Amino acid sequence: MNAIAATFTQAWAGLTHRQFAYTQSVPFAVDAKFAHDTNAQLDTRNLNVYINGAQILKDVNVSIPKNKITCIIGPSGCGKSTLLRTFNRLNDRVEGLKMNGEVNLGKSNILAANSSKLSELRRNIGLVPQRPCPLPMSIYDNVAYGCRIHGIHNKKKLDSIVQHYLKAVGLWDEVKDRLKSPAAKLSGGQQQRLCLARSLAVEPSYLLADESTSALDPISSKKVEQLFTELKKDYSIVMVTHTLRQALRIADHVIFMYLGEVIEEGSADQVFKHPQHELTKKYLNGAFS
Ligand SMILES: Nc1ncnc2c1ncn2[C@@H]1O[C@H](COP(=O)(O)OP(=O)(O)OP(=O)(O)O)[C@@H](O)[C@H]1O
Ligand SMILES: [Mg+2]
Repeated sequence: MNAIAATFTQAWAGLTHRQFAYTQSVPFAVDAKFAHDTNAQLDTRNLNVYINGAQILKDVNVSIPKNKITCIIGPSGCGKSTLLRTFNRLNDRVEGLKMNGEVNLGKSNILAANSSKLSELRRNIGLVPQRPCPLPMSIYDNVAYGCRIHGIHNKKKLDSIVQHYLKAVGLWDEVKDRLKSPAAKLSGGQQQRLCLARSLAVEPSYLLADESTSALDPISSKKVEQLFTELKKDYSIVMVTHTLRQALRIADHVIFMYLGEVIEEGSADQVFKHPQHELTKKYLNGAFS
């Protein structure tokens, strides 16, 4: 518990949470006023990543559009997760890892950010993990966790935040009568949505999701997909997915990677209907996966 809690504490310490001056929660979609207000653009320039001398990402230049769902697709081991993790410096802990180039959020190069800035960065660019990892505490406390770290202790305010974000992820009706029971008792799909609520409660502007539905049953998967589609009004979502069908369903923007390189990037229509590169065509036709 301590290791997990420490990670979240580190990620969220020193946040500058905006005021939660609201009384009503919306039934499903997140109200725009709760989304982090930034127009900063996320992109990479000539990004290279090496682990123990092996080049994992090769001269990656991508641009993540605002308020859209960007899907990163490509065969296993092509560098999707590595790229996703550079966006909020989660690769820092990988032994033997070296990076050069730029990952820019507006005018700031994330790769050059001082470690004291990382908590603020990760508050702006939050990651929803592949496997649901509820903290070993109640449902309520899971959602309130980041807010408390930030210094919000007023019960009424926390109640509103918890209710709002549990509604946003479509979980409120399923858990409202057992908010104080352990999060670990929820089903896998419910835990995944709870973790999403926890990520949203600190109001990132970018939401990174690494195969967030891969451990879920089809119904829970669809709920998360539906939720992402709702959330893009207020958040910019970058999602790694192994499932081409999922990308076809929800992507607005697509990045296709192969062996550490970005082979093709563009709107979902462009990449899926008019792929330019032979490798993209083969991948979309199922020649390799
Ligand atoms: N900590 C590490 N040490 C050594 N090599 C690593 C490490 N993490 C990743 N790699 C290597 O980097 C390459 C890219 O890995 P990455 O996890 O980014 O791929 P991926 O596209 O997300 O794959 P998958 O679809 O299987 O999740 C792989 O060859 C992997 O073996
Ligand atoms: Mg991966």
